[in-house]
Amino acid sequence: MATIVQAIAFGGPENLTTAEVEPAAPGPGEVRVEVRAAGVNPIDLKVYGGAMGADPANLPMRLGFEAAGVITEIGPGVDQNVGDEVIAFRISGAYASEVVVPATAVVPKPASLGWAEAGGLMLTGATAVHLLTATAVGDGDTVLVHGGSGGVGLMAIQLAALRGARVIATASPRRHAALESLGAEPVTYGDGLLERLQAMAPEGIDVALDLIGTDEALETSLALVADRDRIATIANFGSAPTAGVKVLGGGPGADPGTEVRANARPELARLAGEGTLLVQVGATYPLTEVAEAHRLLAAGRADGKVVLLP
Ligand SMILES: NC(=O)c1ccc[n+]([C@@H]2O[C@H](COP(=O)([O-])OP(=O)(O)OC[C@H]3O[C@@H](n4cnc5c(N)ncnc54)[C@H](OP(=O)(O)O)[C@@H]3O)[C@@H](O)[C@H]2O)c1
Repeated sequence: MATIVQAIAFGGPENLTTAEVEPAAPGPGEVRVEVRAAGVNPIDLKVYGGAMGADPANLPMRLGFEAAGVITEIGPGVDQNVGDEVIAFRISGAYASEVVVPATAVVPKPASLGWAEAGGLMLTGATAVHLLTATAVGDGDTVLVHGGSGGVGLMAIQLAALRGARVIATASPRRHAALESLGAEPVTYGDGLLERLQAMAPEGIDVALDLIGTDEALETSLALVADRDRIATIANFGSAPTAGVKVLGGGPGADPGTEVRANARPELARLAGEGTLLVQVGATYPLTEVAEAHRLLAAGRADGKVVLLP
């Protein structure tokens, strides 16, 4: 039997439960993966939180968009082999001890990469690649990252630095040392942010990435970056579209960047495998403690990726 996590009602983490189900057999073009780690992301809380819709027909709802594990069975027409260690993204129902997924959703996991790191790499990493691609971040750019200490922020900082950019990133003071260790110049968000940024970059900022969606993030970005094509948000689906900045992801009118994100997977795996791109894991939980994992993330106390280890 396979253990799965499901939301049995819309609302908070108290609605999460585990169940035992008969595992499905992989069909043509599919593989079965024994999950060793599944990344936890804010979108996982949002899909059953109610704000994105609360159609009872969608219950019970499986959760999780990324996992790492070992292929245990292959369907017809598949190039992978039983025993391959893989990272699966983007998939549905990753919070499980086993998943059956399209073979096209998996890429090889570098042997040097830990399971928790592999399980928490792709959603944030691919989102960061999409942000940097959409704003054409390159050598010599000064890049402002709003929300640098979150999962996406930690990836965006490192990938922007690898492209030769100077990175300034907002975070709480307790997270500044972690950001510095990745090559960013940290700055505290909140009152006076614009003045602090102007002092840090008197010659101006070329690119702003909003990973938070606050008015402060949008307003400082608009004030500091002349070219609106070089401002992108993944979290502001309200005022950002009318401000003429790039809106990325799954929100209304946003650019989903499906191809860019899918194509980013092999390079992300390579960089993480060679240790050039670090996945900072903040906390791990078994599937049975998924509600605690979600409470930690919702409280903003994760300090790195939260990962489920079945
Ligand atoms: N559209 C897409 O494709 C897409 C993809 C991935 C994620 N997202 C969304 O992007 C957001 C970030 O995702 P994530 O995975 O990075 O989240 P996360 O790991 O939960 O990080 C959230 C971060 O927000 C920071 N923060 C809280 N209030 C802030 C403020 N007022 N100003 C600046 N930073 C603040 C916290 O920093 P401190 O701890 O330093 O205070 C925390 O590190 C979420 O809303 C998520 O749903 C969208």
